[in-house]
Amino acid sequence: MRKQLLLGLGLVSALLVSVQASAQKFEQLAKTPQMGWNSWNTFGCNVDEKMIRAMADAMVTSGMKAAGYEYINIDDCWHGERDKNGFIQADKKHFPSGMKALADYVHAKGLKLGIYSDAGNTTCAGRPGSRGHEYQDALTYASWGIDYVKYDWCDTQDINPKSAYATMRDAIHKAGRPMLFSICEWGDNQPWEWAQDVGHSWRTTGDIYPCWNCEHNHGSWSSFGVLPILDKQAGLRKYAGPGHWNDMDMMEVGNGMTEEEDRAHFSLWAFMASPLIAGNDLRNMSDTTRAILTHKETIAINQDKLGIQAMKWIDEGDLEIYIKPLEKGHYAVLFLNRADDAMDYRFDWSFHYMKDDISKHEIFFDKQAFNWRNIWNGETGSTKEVLNIKVPAHGVVVLRLSPR
Ligand code: GAL
Repeated sequence: MRKQLLLGLGLVSALLVSVQASAQKFEQLAKTPQMGWNSWNTFGCNVDEKMIRAMADAMVTSGMKAAGYEYINIDDCWHGERDKNGFIQADKKHFPSGMKALADYVHAKGLKLGIYSDAGNTTCAGRPGSRGHEYQDALTYASWGIDYVKYDWCDTQDINPKSAYATMRDAIHKAGRPMLFSICEWGDNQPWEWAQDVGHSWRTTGDIYPCWNCEHNHGSWSSFGVLPILDKQAGLRKYAGPGHWNDMDMMEVGNGMTEEEDRAHFSLWAFMASPLIAGNDLRNMSDTTRAILTHKETIAINQDKLGIQAMKWIDEGDLEIYIKPLEKGHYAVLFLNRADDAMDYRFDWSFHYMKDDISKHEIFFDKQAFNWRNIWNGETGSTKEVLNIKVPAHGVVVLRLSPR
């Protein structure tokens, strides 16, 4: 009897171990926010293999790959029909060589390929979703050599978001190929509260729109400019860290905003430890756009190993100051001017104290001095002296502080 009981207990724990073994994500991915490119912002549904290949080429020739960008992500509309056994196929007209060949091409460039699906019956553009096909789809993606799955939330009716995303997480793990899992349910179900062990990032808002401070009304839904997206991050920084990031959406750098706005947008996404996923046409971007997207010192702030999302330190209405603790006792400080006019700003460090209860960092500027470097114009100085800066309209000044 005792033996049987022990045997039974053994079986139960073996079962638990096997359930637990599949209930996990690939932990080694996105230790710093993922960097790449995604087709949606510029191309919408007009995706095909020729364009995706050209984008991989441009990622290399533009210097984006050297700057750290890695993923080429095909968003909605690559899908064809499911075959008679339910396996998803690429749209044969636009992807005649198939996804495996495309992944091989992208891998040969030293890059990775991402794909898009949806937890519901259909994607947001009406293509087949993964509902009821999760394990089959994850296996298919793995067999194609896919490295990244963005998983959307259209046509999900009343399904439970937590279990729908966990099912795909488990399916990916079971398929056995490390694929970064990017959750896209627009922050509707507070994914920051439950997705840390489910995905590597979660969208925190609805879709982005290339404007500074607008909400663009599409009828039943809205998309948002840089400032509204930034403001929706309030309270979320405690949920982000290595392997699990607040995703502020693919970037609109190079898609119609001014140079100052683009620089501010890129700097803010970097500070907020958001994934840096370019959304412009890499094949013919301007030198200005390229210089912003490949700006080394900004990328280093985003990719800092501590993985601490910036905190809004000082709020003076149109002028806000963000601070991000970095490795080796460094800090990045961003002065944001939300207003329509440039602003002369005087900042006496010695009057200021910074305390971050979440990352447990504290600075008494009257006791501790730093050297600073303005990472966009190269100027240098010290926190022992009063700072006098001109912050452009819709713009930022970014300083990197290092201990003296
Ligand atoms: C939206 C998503 C966008 C894009 C689009 C595709 O739900 O937020 O980023 O993926 O669907 O239809």
